This record gives sequence, C-alpha cells and structure tokens, in this order.
Amino acid sequence: MTWLAPFLLATWISLAACTLITDITGVHQRTPLLGQIVNLTALVTAKGKSGFYLLGDPVKDVRASNGLAVFTTSTSILSQVNAGDIVSLTGTVSEFRPAADPDYLLLTEVVSPANITVLSVNNTITPLILGKDRSPPTEQFSSLDVGRDGWLSVPNNQSRIDTVNGTLQVKFGLDFWASLVGQIVSIPTPVAINFPNSFGEFWAHGDWPVTGKNSRGGLSLTFGPHGIPDANPEAIIVGSPLDGTKNPKTAIGTQLTDIVGVITYQFGFYYVLPLTAPTVISNPDFAIAPTTLTSSPTDHCAITVGDYNVENMAPTGTHIRDVANHIAQVLLTPDIIFIQEVQDNSGPTDNGVVSANVTLSTLVQAIASISNVTYSWIDIDPVDGEDGGQPGGNIRQAYLYRSEKLHPVQIPGVPVGGALNATAIVKASGKPFLSLNPGRVDPTNAAWQDSRKPLAAQWTTASGHTLFTVNLHLVSKGGSTTGHGDARPPVNLPVAQRTSQVETVANLVKSILDIDPFSNVVVAGDCNEYLQTRSVFASLTSLLTDIDEVANIPPAERYTYVFDNNCEQLDHMFLSPALSSRYAEVEHIHVNNWAATAAARVSDHDPTVARIRVC
Ligand SMILES: *[C@@H]1O[C@H](CO)[C@@H](O)[C@H](O)[C@H]1NC(C)=O
Ligand SMILES: *[C@@H]1O[C@H](CO)[C@@H](O)[C@H](O)[C@H]1NC(C)=O
Ligand SMILES: *[C@@H]1O[C@H](CO)[C@@H](O)[C@H](O)[C@H]1NC(C)=O
Ligand SMILES: *[C@@H]1O[C@H](CO)[C@@H](O)[C@H](O)[C@H]1NC(C)=O
Ligand SMILES: *[C@@H]1O[C@H](CO)[C@@H](O)[C@H](O)[C@H]1NC(C)=O
Ligand SMILES: *[C@@H]1O[C@H](CO)[C@@H](O)[C@H](O)[C@H]1NC(C)=O
Ligand SMILES: *[C@@H]1O[C@H](CO)[C@@H](O)[C@H](O)[C@H]1NC(C)=O
Ligand SMILES: *[C@@H]1O[C@H](CO)[C@@H](O)[C@H](O)[C@H]1NC(C)=O
Repeated sequence: MTWLAPFLLATWISLAACTLITDITGVHQRTPLLGQIVNLTALVTAKGKSGFYLLGDPVKDVRASNGLAVFTTSTSILSQVNAGDIVSLTGTVSEFRPAADPDYLLLTEVVSPANITVLSVNNTITPLILGKDRSPPTEQFSSLDVGRDGWLSVPNNQSRIDTVNGTLQVKFGLDFWASLVGQIVSIPTPVAINFPNSFGEFWAHGDWPVTGKNSRGGLSLTFGPHGIPDANPEAIIVGSPLDGTKNPKTAIGTQLTDIVGVITYQFGFYYVLPLTAPTVISNPDFAIAPTTLTSSPTDHCAITVGDYNVENMAPTGTHIRDVANHIAQVLLTPDIIFIQEVQDNSGPTDNGVVSANVTLSTLVQAIASISNVTYSWIDIDPVDGEDGGQPGGNIRQAYLYRSEKLHPVQIPGVPVGGALNATAIVKASGKPFLSLNPGRVDPTNAAWQDSRKPLAAQWTTASGHTLFTVNLHLVSKGGSTTGHGDARPPVNLPVAQRTSQVETVANLVKSILDIDPFSNVVVAGDCNEYLQTRSVFASLTSLLTDIDEVANIPPAERYTYVFDNNCEQLDHMFLSPALSSRYAEVEHIHVNNWAATAAARVSDHDPTVARIRVC
C-alpha cells in the first residue's frame, strides 16, 4: 500500500528515542502529544512554501494518519529537504488554528524543525490511492451532527469537534479526511464540482462511489437512504499546487488528469494540495437549451411561471440586457415571472431613491425588443435602507406579467399596499381576497427586519380563475459556519429568523385555504434555504407542496445554486392542493451554473420555469 522501508525499521531499532508519526496523529481528533518535542525519522513526500510533509510506516489502524505536516517558512531549512529523502529531525507537536477563525478545526503539525539529517535520497514515494486503497464515506460529515435533519438540524452549534476530541470514526466524512491529514494521496480521474474561487481552488471528487451525482457532474444535496440530508462528504477542495503552478479553470463537470497531493485542513475545510497542477481533459457542453415549457396563446388554463433571482439588477450596464436575454430566449417569456433582487432606479448609489420603475421598465423594454412580448409589472417600494442587501440598492421582489394571460384583480376600494402596510385575507361572497393588492406580508413583523418583505398578489387569469401568489426572498445565510467547521451541526444563520419568515407566509396561505381550500396559490422565490432543512419550511409544507415533488423531478436534478461541494436548491415553488392535484411541470434552467466560468454567469442563481393549470 505505502512505501516499505526496511532501512527505516533498522533506524528505529537503533534510535529508540524516535516517535512514530502515528503516535502524534493518534486515533482521536486531537493529538495526544501536544507541545511535546519529538525526534522523527520519515520519508519526505512533498514540499511547499510553508513546509514539507512526512510519511512514516503505516500502522494497521487506518484512523491514525501516518502522514504529517512540518511547518516552516525558513528557506534554509526547506533547502535541506527534498521529496524522496529519508530524514531525521527534531520538532515540536503543535495544533494550528488562525486566531481570527475560531470556527475552524485545529490542524496537527510539527513546528520548529531542527537538526535535520538526510539519511538517504531518491526513495520511492507511493501515494495512497483514494477509491482503491480507501474511499471516502458518502453520507454524513460527523457523528456530532445529531437531529432529524442531520448536518442541517436545528438547533445547531450544539457541540464542537475539537472540544469533544472523540475517537475518529471513518464512516463519517470529517473523520475520514482527518485520518489522512498529512498523507500523500492519489485522486484518480478527478471531476470538478464547482467553479474555482479567486485563489484557483475548486471542489472535486475522484473515481470513487459518490451520491447525489447530477447529469452535469456535480453533487446535489439530497436526502440519504436513511431520510437524513446527505452532506456529500466524498468531495474535497483542490488547493493551490505546492510547486507554484496554477490550477486550470474549471466548471461543474470538468474532467481533469489524476492529482497526487497531500491532505491538509485550511480555511475551514479539508483540502488536497496537488504536487503540481492537473490539466483539463474535457469540459461539458456549455450550450444551454431553452425551456420546453412555453406559454400557450389558446390554453388559458395553463399558466407558465418563471422564477429568477436576477442578482442586484440595476437599470444601467449590460447586466439588465443579459437578464432580458435569459427571459426572452431561455425562459421563453413565461406568463408571470417572480423576480428577486430588483434594485432601485439609482442602483447601488445610496441617495434615498427607492422607486424601481426605471429599472423595471428598462427590463420590460429590453425583453420586448428581443421577443415581441411586452410585460406589465408590479412591485412595492421598500422603506429606504430597511430591507437588507447591497447598501443603497433597495432590492425588492417584482412580478412581470403578460396581461393577455393574467392581471392583478382590481376591486374598487382595494388599494395597493405600501412598504409598511400588511395585506390581509378578507372574505367576500364566500371567497378569499387580499385586502391590499398587491401587498406585503406582515412587513412590520420582527421576522422581516433588514430583509425583503414578501410581495403577495391576487390575479385573474384569462380563463376567469383566481390565482394568489407570494414572491419571497428570505434572509440570507451570511455568517454561517462551514460544513467542515468545528461547530456541529454547523451554525446556520439566521435560521430562527428564516423559520419565522416562513411562518408569516404560511399564516397568510392558511387564511386563504381556510376560506377556500380549492384556491390556486403559488408561493415562490429565493428562500436562501434547502428543503432538506425541513424545520424551516414545516409551517408551509403542511399546507403546500414543492413543485419538484409534484412534477417528480429526480432529486439529484433539483438545484438552482452551487455552493462549496453542493449543487443545491435555494429557489423553490410551492403549490396549493388544487394546483398540485392538477398537472404541474417544472424545469430548473441551469443557464448560470452550467456556464464556463463563474464570471460568465448573469446571476449566481439559476432561473426556474413551471407550467401549472389554474382550471
Ligand atoms: C531526541 O534525540 C536526542 C538524541 O539525538 C535525545 O537526546 C532526546 O532525548 C530525544 N528526544 C525525544 C523526545 O525522544
Ligand atoms: C484527545 O484525546 C486523547 C484520548 O483521550 C488524549 O490522549 C489527547 O491528549 C486529547 N488531546 C487533547 C489536545 O486534548
Ligand atoms: C540538535 O542536536 C544537537 C547535537 O546533538 C543538540 O545539542 C541540540 O540540542 C539539538 N537541537 C534540537 C533543537 O533538538
Ligand atoms: C536521485 O535522482 C536524481 C534524478 O533521477 C538523480 O539525478 C540523482 O543522481 C539521484 N541521486 C542519487 C544520490 O542517487
Ligand atoms: C456557537 O456556540 C459557541 C459556544 O460553543 C458560542 O461561543 C458561539 O457564539 C455560538 N455561535 C452562534 C452563532 O450561536
Ligand atoms: C417613474 O416614476 C416617476 C414618478 O412617478 C415618473 O415621473 C417617471 O416617468 C417614471 N418613469 C418610468 C420610466 O416609468
Ligand atoms: C416579432 O413579430 C414579428 C412580426 O409579427 C415577427 O416577424 C417576428 O418573428 C417576431 N419575433 C419574435 C422573436 O417572436
Ligand atoms: C399604510 O400605512 C400607512 C402608515 O401606517 C397609513 O398611513 C396608510 O393609510 C396605509 N395604507 C393603506 C392602504 O392601508
């Protein structure tokens, strides 16, 4: 499996004072030899700017890594060692975590190396082959991720890996990678599953069993076989190559040449640091097919519904034109579009402007110039600076609609709501109506502080039927800890606020369905949360059904966003029983996340198109 070194065994016999690497790494999360000065004799497997990596003889217990990082930035020390050398040295066992990042795990390493003696050179280095010698587990990150929703359970932040310092259990992903820290490994036929970050680092998996694989080659967040959200721990970040070469640009599904590198932990994640950069073997097809769910000029029961977070769309620049192209040429001008992140007329300039009529009419004109469809639109201006998002932008939700297919119900005496007016459900002639149309849902509830208030509307369709809609943009996950972090389950911020936000919307929906259980209701938008975090959506999913369920979309194809190791769904559409009992179709159009580069994307979210029947 790894190198066999009769020479080294002999060395150990003669130098009884030597410590084994596995004595330092141990079978617990943390080292048993913290702070101790040790003498080591081992094979140098790799060298970078901030140290080198050692390999000792293997032990039978796979939990104890026989690799170890030696930290030094001293060029005179680094010049003394080369990959292939067997060296002896003295150093101090240490654990590293940046002071500014208390949520990261500790990395065991040896610091202050001294008295380095090269005992022999040019020894063979045999990496451990992942997928052959050992394979990562595919479901859970940590035994500490307790709760019905696994690593997404609420409450989270209940324990810390380094405080518990438990025995490693390699059926859990973080423990598996911990058992390889410092080791040299080979990753056969890697596949990139995300775009690179600004340092050229990207997530990948190799030729080993994986779960949640989607048609593009990414790994989707799904439920595992035991009904617990699957964390996809089988993926790892490919970091900057140790020899100073640069990783190639990757997209989701890029195939690369084999990687040989060392396992480490940094920036809150487990990494493999390649000895040298891999090269691209193949890329997926970057052409995007438009939706097959098109608007019908004759079937008035069928309504096509788009949903798109257009990421800080201001009235100027090329971004708005690109959004218009997507709506016209890829979404094929749905009858109604739920849009999120429309900025005010001055974009991110913080000047008190809150109206977005220039932004929306610019978008409508741009779509019309490409498609012959001239949308009407509605939105409600927020109070300046009160809804979060990019400062000055005053992002809000809006509806674009084709008035020949549907239009807002206009009842004499029913006004349009303002930023702080809560729309309510009133009963007239036995039917539910919005008291303000459109109106915002419970906008002064503390749940909506510094967040985009939901935009509710009531529509009449060309078939004469009523449709209620709520366009959502829930508070974002900023400040959450990493999936590979110390806190377990990982901190999910602000999950309590997001749960309360959903509850306010569920209350409105319940009022509609209490009056008329056969009402047509669509709640859709950017929820900034996965449905696998079931507790957040419980109040709503007791009333409405996720359209992906209704349309029976394969679980691995349910995603609109790519973050870290996961293709995941943040954008959802929920249907009332009347709608879900009829025919419903949905397509997530990966016009952004199937792009060649992250920079080529128009938005970080993919849009969705659905076709529902209101009669
Ligand atoms: C390291 O080796 C030196 C001799 O080379 C010895 O004096 C010392 O006790 C050893 N230290 C440990 C921690 O084994
Ligand atoms: C971790 O636990 C092991 C086993 O109990 C113990 O030997 C070691 O000292 C602990 N490490 C730290 C840093 O607490
Ligand atoms: C290095 O070796 C010399 C000679 O054996 C010894 O005096 C010295 O203490 C060692 N240095 C360290 C840091 O172990
Ligand atoms: C080690 O290998 C290199 C490259 O193959 C060779 O140039 C060098 O002579 C070798 N050194 C020894 C001591 O065998
Ligand atoms: C998580 O728990 C730790 C205590 O273990 C606490 O210091 C920290 O503030 C908590 N983080 C959040 C976001 O609640
Ligand atoms: C935007 O609204 C202002 C104020 O009502 C109006 O004067 C202006 O003409 C509108 N602009 C567009 C493009 O609709
Ligand atoms: C727009 O309408 C014109 C005239 O009816 C037609 O020739 C053209 O093909 C239409 N373009 C699109 C994109 O539908
Ligand atoms: C909206 O709220 C404001 C402030 O409370 C109030 O003055 C106004 O009458 C309300 N508008 C409607 C339509 O209820």
